[in-house]
Amino acid sequence: HFPSINACQTASPISEVAVEVPDLDWDNLGFGIIPTDYMYVMKCPRGGSFSNGELKRFGNIELSPSAGVLNYGQGLFEGLKAYRKDGSILLFRPEENALRMRMGAERMCMQSPTVDQFVEAVKATVLANKRWVPPAGKGSLYIRPLLMGSGAVLGLAPAPEYTFLIYVSPVGNYFKEGIAPINLVIEHELHRATPGGTGGVKTIGNYAAVLKAQSAAKAKGYSDVLYLDCVHKKYLEEVSSCNIFVVKGNVISTPAIKGTILPGITRKSIIDVARSLGFQVEERFVAVDELLEADEVFCTGTAVVISPVGSVTYLGKRISYGDGVGVVSQQLYSVLTRLQMGLIEDKMNWTVSL
Ligand code: COI
Repeated sequence: HFPSINACQTASPISEVAVEVPDLDWDNLGFGIIPTDYMYVMKCPRGGSFSNGELKRFGNIELSPSAGVLNYGQGLFEGLKAYRKDGSILLFRPEENALRMRMGAERMCMQSPTVDQFVEAVKATVLANKRWVPPAGKGSLYIRPLLMGSGAVLGLAPAPEYTFLIYVSPVGNYFKEGIAPINLVIEHELHRATPGGTGGVKTIGNYAAVLKAQSAAKAKGYSDVLYLDCVHKKYLEEVSSCNIFVVKGNVISTPAIKGTILPGITRKSIIDVARSLGFQVEERFVAVDELLEADEVFCTGTAVVISPVGSVTYLGKRISYGDGVGVVSQQLYSVLTRLQMGLIEDKMNWTVSL
Protein backbone atom coordinates (compact mmCIF):
# COMPACT_ATOMS: atom_id res chain seq x y z
CA HIS A 1 0.00 0.00 0.00
CA PHE A 2 1.43 3.40 -1.02
CA PRO A 3 0.22 6.29 1.11
CA SER A 4 1.39 8.74 -1.54
CA ILE A 5 -1.40 7.60 -3.84
CA ASN A 6 -3.94 8.78 -1.30
CA ALA A 7 -2.21 12.14 -1.31
CA CYS A 8 -2.98 12.61 -4.99
CA GLN A 9 -5.99 14.86 -5.24
CA THR A 10 -7.18 13.77 -8.64
CA ALA A 11 -7.09 10.04 -8.00
CA SER A 12 -9.40 8.15 -5.72
CA PRO A 13 -7.45 5.99 -3.26
CA ILE A 14 -6.74 2.42 -4.25
CA SER A 15 -6.44 -0.13 -1.54
CA GLU A 16 -4.32 -2.84 -3.08
CA VAL A 17 -0.98 -2.23 -4.73
CA ALA A 18 0.97 -5.41 -5.36
CA VAL A 19 4.62 -5.14 -4.41
CA GLU A 20 6.00 -8.44 -5.76
CA VAL A 21 8.53 -7.93 -8.52
CA PRO A 22 6.89 -9.15 -11.75
CA ASP A 23 8.35 -12.24 -13.36
CA LEU A 24 9.83 -10.49 -16.40
CA ASP A 25 13.03 -10.94 -18.36
CA TRP A 26 14.32 -7.47 -17.40
CA ASP A 27 17.45 -7.91 -19.52
CA ASN A 28 15.51 -8.30 -22.73
CA LEU A 29 12.74 -5.74 -22.61
CA GLY A 30 11.86 -4.48 -26.07
CA PHE A 31 9.13 -2.02 -26.91
CA GLY A 32 5.96 -4.10 -26.67
CA ILE A 33 2.90 -3.84 -24.46
CA ILE A 34 3.21 -5.65 -21.14
CA PRO A 35 -0.08 -5.34 -19.21
CA THR A 36 0.42 -3.72 -15.79
CA ASP A 37 -1.78 -3.26 -12.71
CA TYR A 38 -3.59 0.08 -12.99
CA MET A 39 -4.66 2.69 -15.51
CA TYR A 40 -5.98 6.16 -14.85
CA VAL A 41 -9.28 7.39 -16.26
CA MET A 42 -10.85 10.85 -16.11
CA LYS A 43 -13.76 12.24 -18.12
CA CYS A 44 -15.06 15.61 -19.18
CA PRO A 45 -18.27 16.73 -20.90
CA ARG A 46 -17.81 19.09 -23.88
CA GLY A 47 -17.61 22.63 -22.53
CA GLY A 48 -17.06 21.36 -18.97
CA SER A 49 -13.93 20.39 -17.08
CA PHE A 50 -12.18 17.16 -16.17
CA SER A 51 -12.97 15.77 -12.74
CA ASN A 52 -13.20 12.62 -10.64
CA GLY A 53 -10.13 10.96 -12.11
CA GLU A 54 -9.57 7.48 -10.78
CA LEU A 55 -7.18 4.58 -10.92
CA LYS A 56 -8.79 1.41 -12.23
CA ARG A 57 -7.47 -2.07 -12.85
CA PHE A 58 -5.75 -2.09 -16.25
CA GLY A 59 -8.07 -3.59 -18.85
CA ASN A 60 -10.31 -3.02 -21.83
CA ILE A 61 -12.44 0.10 -21.98
CA GLU A 62 -15.97 0.49 -23.24
CA LEU A 63 -16.70 2.96 -26.05
CA SER A 64 -19.76 3.75 -28.11
CA PRO A 65 -19.32 2.55 -31.71
CA SER A 66 -20.01 6.16 -32.67
CA ALA A 67 -17.36 7.66 -30.37
CA GLY A 68 -15.63 10.66 -31.98
CA VAL A 69 -12.23 9.01 -31.74
CA LEU A 70 -13.37 5.88 -33.61
CA ASN A 71 -15.25 7.68 -36.36
CA TYR A 72 -13.42 10.93 -36.92
CA GLY A 73 -10.00 10.41 -35.34
CA GLN A 74 -10.45 12.88 -32.51
CA GLY A 75 -7.55 11.57 -30.46
CA LEU A 76 -4.14 12.56 -29.10
CA PHE A 77 -1.45 10.66 -27.30
CA GLU A 78 1.68 11.43 -25.32
CA GLY A 79 4.72 9.46 -24.26
CA LEU A 80 7.07 9.89 -21.32
CA LYS A 81 9.24 7.67 -19.18
CA ALA A 82 9.91 6.90 -15.53
CA TYR A 83 13.31 5.64 -14.36
CA ARG A 84 14.21 3.94 -11.12
CA LYS A 85 16.84 5.68 -9.04
CA ASP A 86 17.82 4.15 -5.69
CA GLY A 87 14.64 4.31 -3.60
CA SER A 88 12.82 6.78 -5.83
CA ILE A 89 11.42 7.11 -9.33
CA LEU A 90 12.26 9.94 -11.73
CA LEU A 91 9.99 11.46 -14.35
CA PHE A 92 11.43 13.62 -17.12
CA ARG A 93 9.72 16.97 -17.82
CA PRO A 94 6.12 15.70 -17.46
CA GLU A 95 4.70 19.23 -17.60
CA GLU A 96 6.06 19.52 -21.17
CA ASN A 97 3.87 16.57 -22.19
CA ALA A 98 0.92 18.21 -20.46
CA LEU A 99 1.47 21.45 -22.37
CA ARG A 100 1.87 19.63 -25.68
CA MET A 101 -1.36 17.73 -25.09
CA ARG A 102 -3.14 21.02 -24.39
CA MET A 103 -1.75 22.48 -27.61
CA GLY A 104 -2.89 19.42 -29.55
CA ALA A 105 -6.32 19.53 -27.93
CA GLU A 106 -6.78 23.09 -29.11
CA ARG A 107 -5.98 22.06 -32.72
CA MET A 108 -8.29 19.03 -32.53
CA CYS A 109 -11.20 20.86 -30.83
CA MET A 110 -10.96 18.74 -27.70
CA GLN A 111 -11.20 19.47 -24.00
CA SER A 112 -7.96 18.71 -22.17
CA PRO A 113 -6.86 18.28 -18.54
CA THR A 114 -4.95 21.11 -16.87
CA VAL A 115 -1.17 20.80 -16.55
CA ASP A 116 -1.59 20.01 -12.84
CA GLN A 117 -4.24 17.38 -13.48
CA PHE A 118 -2.05 15.77 -16.13
CA VAL A 119 1.08 15.70 -13.97
CA GLU A 120 -0.74 14.49 -10.84
CA ALA A 121 -2.42 11.74 -12.84
CA VAL A 122 0.93 10.63 -14.28
CA LYS A 123 2.42 10.49 -10.78
CA ALA A 124 -0.52 8.50 -9.39
CA THR A 125 -0.39 6.02 -12.28
CA VAL A 126 3.34 5.46 -11.92
CA LEU A 127 3.11 4.97 -8.16
CA ALA A 128 0.25 2.50 -8.54
CA ASN A 129 2.39 0.51 -11.00
CA LYS A 130 5.67 1.02 -9.18
CA ARG A 131 6.66 -2.63 -9.28
CA TRP A 132 6.73 -2.47 -13.10
CA VAL A 133 9.44 0.21 -13.23
CA PRO A 134 12.51 -1.72 -14.42
CA PRO A 135 15.58 -1.93 -12.18
CA ALA A 136 18.09 0.89 -12.76
CA GLY A 137 19.96 0.37 -16.01
CA LYS A 138 17.47 -2.18 -17.41
CA GLY A 139 15.00 0.16 -19.07
CA SER A 140 12.15 2.42 -18.06
CA LEU A 141 8.42 2.52 -17.48
CA TYR A 142 6.87 4.01 -20.61
CA ILE A 143 3.86 6.16 -19.74
CA ARG A 144 1.20 6.58 -22.42
CA PRO A 145 -1.41 9.29 -21.78
CA LEU A 146 -4.33 9.33 -24.23
CA LEU A 147 -6.98 11.95 -24.86
CA MET A 148 -9.98 10.92 -26.93
CA GLY A 149 -13.37 12.07 -28.05
CA SER A 150 -15.29 9.35 -26.25
CA GLY A 151 -18.78 10.80 -26.68
CA ALA A 152 -21.07 9.57 -29.47
CA VAL A 153 -21.44 11.56 -32.70
CA LEU A 154 -22.79 10.76 -36.14
CA GLY A 155 -22.57 13.99 -38.08
CA LEU A 156 -19.06 15.44 -38.22
CA ALA A 157 -18.59 17.48 -35.05
CA PRO A 158 -16.46 17.56 -31.90
CA ALA A 159 -17.50 14.75 -29.55
CA PRO A 160 -19.80 15.61 -26.62
CA GLU A 161 -17.47 13.91 -24.07
CA TYR A 162 -13.69 13.46 -23.65
CA THR A 163 -11.73 10.77 -21.85
CA PHE A 164 -8.19 11.15 -20.55
CA LEU A 165 -6.55 7.81 -19.88
CA ILE A 166 -3.03 6.80 -18.86
CA TYR A 167 -1.55 3.33 -19.07
CA VAL A 168 2.04 2.21 -18.59
CA SER A 169 4.33 -0.57 -19.76
CA PRO A 170 7.94 -1.46 -18.93
CA VAL A 171 10.16 -0.98 -21.99
CA GLY A 172 13.72 -1.37 -23.19
CA ASN A 173 15.08 -0.32 -26.57
CA TYR A 174 12.66 0.90 -29.24
CA PHE A 175 14.59 -0.29 -32.28
CA LYS A 176 15.69 -3.91 -32.47
CA GLU A 177 19.18 -2.55 -33.21
CA GLY A 178 19.31 -1.36 -29.57
CA ILE A 179 21.70 1.56 -29.47
CA ALA A 180 23.51 0.35 -32.60
CA PRO A 181 23.02 2.61 -35.64
CA ILE A 182 19.75 2.30 -37.57
CA ASN A 183 19.32 2.37 -41.34
CA LEU A 184 16.81 4.84 -42.72
CA VAL A 185 15.26 5.23 -46.14
CA ILE A 186 13.91 8.52 -47.46
CA GLU A 187 10.34 8.36 -48.69
CA HIS A 188 9.78 10.29 -51.89
CA GLU A 189 6.08 9.80 -52.63
CA LEU A 190 4.22 9.58 -49.35
CA HIS A 191 4.26 12.42 -46.85
CA ARG A 192 3.71 12.56 -43.13
CA ALA A 193 2.37 16.11 -42.88
CA THR A 194 1.18 19.09 -44.89
CA PRO A 195 1.33 22.82 -44.14
CA GLY A 196 -1.83 23.75 -42.26
CA GLY A 197 -2.42 20.11 -41.32
CA THR A 198 -1.87 18.38 -38.00
CA GLY A 199 1.77 17.25 -38.29
CA GLY A 200 2.78 19.56 -35.45
CA VAL A 201 0.51 17.93 -32.86
CA LYS A 202 0.53 14.42 -31.50
CA THR A 203 -2.74 13.29 -33.01
CA ILE A 204 -3.23 9.57 -33.56
CA GLY A 205 -3.89 9.89 -37.30
CA ASN A 206 -0.35 11.16 -37.96
CA TYR A 207 0.91 7.77 -36.91
CA ALA A 208 -1.63 5.78 -38.94
CA ALA A 209 -0.57 7.82 -41.98
CA VAL A 210 3.03 6.59 -41.87
CA LEU A 211 2.32 2.88 -41.49
CA LYS A 212 2.28 2.18 -45.23
CA ALA A 213 5.71 3.69 -45.91
CA GLN A 214 7.10 2.24 -42.68
CA SER A 215 5.87 -1.29 -43.49
CA ALA A 216 7.34 -1.10 -47.01
CA ALA A 217 10.68 0.12 -45.63
CA LYS A 218 10.81 -2.61 -42.99
CA ALA A 219 10.03 -5.25 -45.61
CA LYS A 220 13.15 -4.06 -47.45
CA GLY A 221 15.27 -4.32 -44.29
CA TYR A 222 15.35 -0.66 -43.27
CA SER A 223 14.76 0.33 -39.66
CA ASP A 224 12.44 3.24 -40.47
CA VAL A 225 11.51 6.05 -42.88
CA LEU A 226 12.73 9.64 -43.08
CA TYR A 227 10.12 12.01 -44.55
CA LEU A 228 10.65 15.08 -46.72
CA ASP A 229 8.54 18.22 -46.83
CA CYS A 230 5.61 17.79 -49.22
CA VAL A 231 5.97 21.16 -50.98
CA HIS A 232 9.56 21.06 -52.26
CA LYS A 233 10.32 17.37 -51.57
CA LYS A 234 13.71 18.65 -50.53
CA TYR A 235 13.83 19.44 -46.83
CA LEU A 236 14.08 16.89 -44.04
CA GLU A 237 11.06 16.63 -41.74
CA GLU A 238 11.21 13.71 -39.34
CA VAL A 239 11.23 9.93 -38.98
CA SER A 240 7.95 8.02 -38.31
CA SER A 241 8.47 8.00 -34.56
CA CYS A 242 11.24 10.54 -33.88
CA ASN A 243 12.96 13.82 -34.83
CA ILE A 244 16.19 14.04 -36.85
CA PHE A 245 19.50 15.85 -36.29
CA VAL A 246 22.47 16.30 -38.64
CA VAL A 247 25.99 16.92 -37.30
CA LYS A 248 28.73 18.70 -39.26
CA GLY A 249 31.78 19.69 -37.24
CA ASN A 250 30.65 21.70 -34.25
CA VAL A 251 27.27 22.54 -35.81
CA ILE A 252 24.19 20.44 -35.09
CA SER A 253 21.16 21.17 -37.31
CA THR A 254 17.58 20.04 -37.02
CA PRO A 255 14.43 20.93 -38.96
CA ALA A 256 12.70 23.95 -37.44
CA ILE A 257 9.26 23.56 -35.87
CA LYS A 258 6.89 24.99 -38.46
CA GLY A 259 3.64 23.10 -38.09
CA THR A 260 4.64 19.94 -39.95
CA ILE A 261 7.15 18.66 -37.40
CA LEU A 262 6.35 17.21 -34.01
CA PRO A 263 7.84 19.40 -31.27
CA GLY A 264 9.68 16.58 -29.49
CA ILE A 265 10.54 16.99 -25.82
CA THR A 266 13.72 14.96 -26.32
CA ARG A 267 14.45 17.17 -29.36
CA LYS A 268 14.07 20.31 -27.27
CA SER A 269 16.15 18.84 -24.43
CA ILE A 270 18.95 17.75 -26.77
CA ILE A 271 19.12 21.25 -28.26
CA ASP A 272 19.69 22.66 -24.76
CA VAL A 273 22.13 19.92 -23.76
CA ALA A 274 24.15 20.36 -26.98
CA ARG A 275 24.33 24.14 -26.51
CA SER A 276 25.46 23.68 -22.91
CA LEU A 277 28.26 21.44 -24.21
CA GLY A 278 29.44 24.16 -26.62
CA PHE A 279 27.85 22.98 -29.86
CA GLN A 280 26.20 25.45 -32.19
CA VAL A 281 22.62 24.28 -32.75
CA GLU A 282 20.61 25.51 -35.72
CA GLU A 283 16.85 25.04 -36.12
CA ARG A 284 16.21 25.71 -39.79
CA PHE A 285 15.36 24.13 -43.14
CA VAL A 286 17.78 21.22 -43.54
CA ALA A 287 18.11 20.15 -47.19
CA VAL A 288 18.35 16.48 -48.04
CA ASP A 289 21.71 17.17 -49.78
CA GLU A 290 23.23 18.08 -46.44
CA LEU A 291 23.12 14.39 -45.55
CA LEU A 292 25.95 13.88 -48.05
CA GLU A 293 28.25 16.22 -46.14
CA ALA A 294 27.23 15.23 -42.60
CA ASP A 295 29.64 13.65 -40.12
CA GLU A 296 26.84 12.07 -38.08
CA VAL A 297 23.06 11.79 -38.14
CA PHE A 298 20.92 10.83 -35.15
CA CYS A 299 17.25 10.62 -34.16
CA THR A 300 15.65 11.73 -30.91
CA GLY A 301 12.37 10.80 -29.26
CA THR A 302 10.97 9.65 -25.95
CA ALA A 303 10.71 6.07 -27.15
CA VAL A 304 13.96 6.01 -29.16
CA VAL A 305 15.93 8.31 -26.77
CA ILE A 306 18.87 8.99 -29.12
CA SER A 307 19.33 6.61 -31.96
CA PRO A 308 22.42 6.96 -34.12
CA VAL A 309 21.84 6.61 -37.86
CA GLY A 310 24.26 4.31 -39.69
CA SER A 311 22.95 5.01 -43.18
CA VAL A 312 20.32 6.91 -45.12
CA THR A 313 19.20 5.65 -48.51
CA TYR A 314 17.83 8.26 -50.91
CA LEU A 315 16.58 7.42 -54.40
CA GLY A 316 18.52 4.17 -54.31
CA LYS A 317 21.82 5.73 -53.15
CA ARG A 318 23.12 4.77 -49.70
CA ILE A 319 24.93 7.37 -47.62
CA SER A 320 26.85 5.68 -44.80
CA TYR A 321 27.99 7.07 -41.48
CA GLY A 322 29.82 3.96 -40.31
CA ASP A 323 28.92 1.00 -38.12
CA GLY A 324 29.75 2.58 -34.80
CA VAL A 325 28.06 5.26 -32.73
CA GLY A 326 29.42 8.71 -33.66
CA VAL A 327 31.24 10.66 -30.95
CA VAL A 328 28.69 13.49 -30.84
CA SER A 329 25.71 11.12 -30.72
CA GLN A 330 27.45 9.14 -27.99
CA GLN A 331 28.23 12.24 -25.94
CA LEU A 332 24.67 13.58 -26.18
CA TYR A 333 23.18 10.15 -25.43
CA SER A 334 25.34 9.78 -22.40
CA VAL A 335 24.53 13.22 -20.94
CA LEU A 336 20.80 12.94 -21.63
CA THR A 337 20.35 9.44 -20.24
CA ARG A 338 22.45 10.16 -17.16
CA LEU A 339 20.29 13.22 -16.53
CA GLN A 340 17.09 11.19 -16.95
CA MET A 341 18.36 8.47 -14.62
CA GLY A 342 19.52 10.95 -11.99
CA LEU A 343 23.20 10.07 -12.36
CA ILE A 344 24.39 13.64 -12.94
CA GLU A 345 23.35 16.95 -11.45
CA ASP A 346 20.06 18.20 -12.90
CA LYS A 347 20.95 21.86 -13.34
CA MET A 348 17.94 22.48 -15.61
CA ASN A 349 15.48 21.11 -13.05
CA TRP A 350 14.03 18.70 -15.58
CA THR A 351 13.48 15.64 -13.43
CA VAL A 352 10.60 15.14 -11.02
CA SER A 353 11.24 12.71 -8.19
CA LEU A 354 8.47 10.47 -6.81
C1 COI B 1 7.42 8.45 -28.29
O1 COI B 1 8.59 8.57 -28.60
O2 COI B 1 7.06 8.39 -27.11
C2 COI B 1 6.37 8.42 -29.29
O3 COI B 1 5.33 8.89 -29.01
C3 COI B 1 6.58 7.76 -30.58
C4 COI B 1 5.77 6.51 -30.71
C5 COI B 1 5.55 6.17 -32.14
C6 COI B 1 6.38 5.35 -29.98
